[in-house]
Formats: sequence, structure tokens, C-alpha cells
Amino acid sequence: MSNAVRIFLVGMPGSGKSTVGKMLAQKLELEFLDLDALIIEQEGLSIAEIFERRGQDYFREAEASALRSLESKPGGLVVATGGGAPCFLGNMDYLLSTGIAVYLKVSARELLKRFTDEELRVRPLLQNKSETELLAYLTETLAHREQFYKKAQVVVDTAGVSIETTVQVLEKQV
Ligand code: S3P
Repeated sequence: MSNAVRIFLVGMPGSGKSTVGKMLAQKLELEFLDLDALIIEQEGLSIAEIFERRGQDYFREAEASALRSLESKPGGLVVATGGGAPCFLGNMDYLLSTGIAVYLKVSARELLKRFTDEELRVRPLLQNKSETELLAYLTETLAHREQFYKKAQVVVDTAGVSIETTVQVLEKQV
């Protein structure tokens, strides 16, 4: 593995991109970066505020440019991307050409079980939905997004697999 490797974790909100990403970065002795956190820093607003005040199209532009701003960062990186990031503005092809994309595959039903109230509150696209609406949203969104996620060079099915095992599997594959 080159020390300038860029590993991009992709997958639905709640698929474990940040948790797995942090642990993987530690094991591989690479810097960890959360794309949403970078957008928050660059915009000076929370993700919910960006959606509320500027709209989703603006957020997607900010997301694409935050992703591309990583190019100027030296050294290796593990990046947790936002759930929608690979599905807009040519971002998935950009990820594939600049690094290794890892898709953390989780079913809509499993995602639904994982969210806490706080996690639902801070994610604008998941806010204010009943459990039935949330499952329908996750099912439809996943069905649409998989065409992008599945292009990843590495796909890990995390069903019934612990975070630790997922990280161990990834360590050998990237
Ligand atoms: C989004 C997922 C979020 C965040 C934003 C939009 C999406 O990131 O980028 O709320 O479109 O699914 P996480 O996947 O980290 O929740």
C-alpha cells in the first residue's frame, strides 16, 4: 500500500462509514477525514442549516468541491463520504480515479434499526419521518444509489458482521 493512498468509504447514512473509517485509518496509520465535517468547516454552518438556508443543490456543489479540495492535501487519507456524495456531479467516477472506494453494504431494514433519535435529527433527509416513511425512503434511496455505490473497487457486506471484523477484512483488501 502506497502511503499516499486515498480510501473513500461510501454507503448509506448509518452504514458505519465514520466508525469504520476512523478505525481503519488508525490501523493503517493514515489520517481520517469526514467529508461532512469538512463542509461544515468550509461553510461555517451545520449540514441541516446548509440544507435549510441554501438548499440541497447548493449542498451538493459544496460537497463536490470539498471532495476535490482534498487533492491538494499531501499523504494518505481515509475519507468517510456523505451518503449522497457518490451519486451527484460525477463524484463516484472522481473517487474511482483518485483512490480506492469501499462500499459498506447494509440493507434498508438494518439501517433503520441503527439510527438513534439524535442521528435522525441532524440528517435533513431523514428528519420528520414516521418509521414507515423512513423505511420507504431508505429502501427507495438505496435502490437508486446502489448503481453508484456498486462501482466501488471493494464491496463489504456488513450484514451480521462486527465493526472490528469489517475493519480486519478491509485492512487486507485495500
Ligand atoms: C446525506 C447524508 C449525510 C449528509 C447529508 C446528506 C445523504 O451524510 O451528507 O445529510 O444524501 O444521504 P451521512 O451519510 O454521513 O449521514
